[in-house]
Amino acid sequence: MTQIWAHRGARHDAPENTLAAFALAIEQKADGVEFDVQLTEDGVPIVIHDETVDRTTDGRGWIRDLSMAKISKLQASAGMKGFKKAKIPTLAETLDLLAPTKLRINIELKNDAVDYPELEEKVLEALSGYKLGDRVVLSSFSDESVAKLSGMTKFELAYIISDSSLLLKPWKRTTQLGASALHPSRRRVNDRLVKKAADAGIKARPWVVNNPKRVKEMLDLGVDAIFTDRPDVARSIRRKHAG
Ligand code: G3P
Ligand code: MG
Repeated sequence: MTQIWAHRGARHDAPENTLAAFALAIEQKADGVEFDVQLTEDGVPIVIHDETVDRTTDGRGWIRDLSMAKISKLQASAGMKGFKKAKIPTLAETLDLLAPTKLRINIELKNDAVDYPELEEKVLEALSGYKLGDRVVLSSFSDESVAKLSGMTKFELAYIISDSSLLLKPWKRTTQLGASALHPSRRRVNDRLVKKAADAGIKARPWVVNNPKRVKEMLDLGVDAIFTDRPDVARSIRRKHAG
């Protein structure tokens, strides 16, 4: 059965990449949760999507230029009402919340636009404090980062590709990088891609699938999981689809 993974948490109903969005993903019974990790100036892995804090917090600046002390003072409600206390969580705080659950945990290393030296090491160091085993998936748009991780860890690895990726055979590149899953933009997903990936032993997990019609299409294609901002909606579609 296709799993439903909350993209940046249940971000339709709570500020993305915050503990509130992850708690809501748990409440909405998502099968997994995806979030993005970058490093503060002083090397702390934190959970945030953009390379600056401008869009989602009341501060300004590049994450790589801000210390953890400064980051921890920011309000991260992303403009959503009712979430004034939302903060940018550290990776450790996020893992503390998710570890006691059964959810899959997809940590996206957000190092395609800004190069964070040792992001891989810092993420693995944070994970070493938990026994999460095959619940974890580490992913990146950066092929360099995926290849580096494949020499460092046995956690499942995924290669992410965007709409504009020029790769003709992304499943092949995924294998070459030592990853076993492909996370493509949903616009890249069709019968052929899902079949070729399956033949290569690669799991396909499209992002971001919110439209009910698209959710159904992905269920019909039998992808391993979808990333969605609305796990509750996707679950009710899956229930009807199965029935
Ligand atoms: O990891 C899948 C998806 O999150 C990639 O896109 O921009 O939301 O991180 P983005
Ligand atoms: Mg992401």
